[in-house]
Amino acid sequence: MLFPPDFRWGTATAAFQVEGNNTNSDWWAWETQPGTILNGHRSGLASNWWANAEADLDAAAEMGTNAHRLSLEWSRIEPEPSVFDEAALERYRAILQGMVDRGIEPMVTLHHFSNPLWLVEKGDFNSEIVLDYFGRYVGKVVDRLGDLVSKWITINEPMVYLFMRYLDGTFPPPQRPGWYGLREAFGRLLACHARAYHIIKEAYPAAEVGIAKNMPIFEAKPGSGIVGRWWAGRIDWLFNRAWMGAMVNGRLPPPFGRSTIPHLANSFDFVGINYYTRFYTKLGLGFDWIEREWPAGTVVSDGNYGEIYPYGLYRVIKSALPYNKPIYITENGLPDAADKLRPAFILDHLRQVWQAICFCFPVMGYYHWSLVDNFEWDRGWTQRFGLISLDPDTQARTWRPSAHLYKEICHSYSISSDMAATYAPEMLPVMFPGEAPAPVHGW
Ligand code: BGC
Repeated sequence: MLFPPDFRWGTATAAFQVEGNNTNSDWWAWETQPGTILNGHRSGLASNWWANAEADLDAAAEMGTNAHRLSLEWSRIEPEPSVFDEAALERYRAILQGMVDRGIEPMVTLHHFSNPLWLVEKGDFNSEIVLDYFGRYVGKVVDRLGDLVSKWITINEPMVYLFMRYLDGTFPPPQRPGWYGLREAFGRLLACHARAYHIIKEAYPAAEVGIAKNMPIFEAKPGSGIVGRWWAGRIDWLFNRAWMGAMVNGRLPPPFGRSTIPHLANSFDFVGINYYTRFYTKLGLGFDWIEREWPAGTVVSDGNYGEIYPYGLYRVIKSALPYNKPIYITENGLPDAADKLRPAFILDHLRQVWQAICFCFPVMGYYHWSLVDNFEWDRGWTQRFGLISLDPDTQARTWRPSAHLYKEICHSYSISSDMAATYAPEMLPVMFPGEAPAPVHGW
């Protein structure tokens, strides 16, 4: 199954998860509070990127990737309000230049879940001030780094951020203004996105700017009645479509408001899809909408993270066609420390991408989450998403079999039956039925 010659083969990371010692971030403060991170884990040095991202970039180059998505830590660049750290900007320049020199195209995220502590103290997305602060931060970054970056993501997974922070309680800060806080922050995040979009485009009109939207499949449990199916549709709209619709027409949809946000309409050049799993929805008062128990026979990744449902990737790609923009799979992966499921996961999800491309759907690239094990937010080090495994104590790295598989894929721009036979023989009859050993009949 061949991919186009200009396809982007990438991996993805986020600043707080890999850099280490992000002491001015709200997540750093959050980690120190008891009960916030599973097993009391701390990010510490994380994957040591601030000191040595280059080690993993060497590996990414050896793997044959030609793209990488990373994020900038605002709290490093602006550790105090209006004080910009030139050395931090220089370090980011070195990392980005290092990527370009290795033939790895940077895709840069401006906001990936973490905030400067000082901003949170000022009310961040529940205060007007965030717009000007965010605009200034983006202006600074574009001025200092923009010549090295052709693809930008303004906000990572806005709906995940809002739900985890305002309703779920797994993201900082401890204060939880609930639904009304969320509703207000929804509009503010969109306004921040619009501001960033235009700042970048003014300086670099050819740059591509988008968002990374987490798009799970939401479905009623098999056998659900009409109400259950209607409800699943409402959740899908709320989580997957409300934000996208606002970016298309520039207006807040009820229940998030009704107003028009200046310069928001059509402020994206591509759709970034983060796809991980399918959720079965459940009816309920409150915000507990997701089943955490799976039907018998479901394959679930480590820590009950989620169902493995490759066809869902094809479905979400298809659902993004009406936006009429190029599509990047900006994240896709699973926690699987033993790498038992990952090789088949990669092959089967890429098969869905390939299928979409065969139908001329404009999928331009795939960024696997993640290149190397990293600090998995509230789940600490308990969930391992890396193609490369990491011991955070010694910083020793080992390529998982999946890293070798991804290397073969990136080098050949294809997935093949030989790869399936070597890395995930169980996928042969599924993906390449003609080449599977013939079943033995009779006696
Ligand atoms: C986030 C990543 C996270 C990954 C795996 C995505 O929701 O953008 O930061 O590590 O999922 O859970």
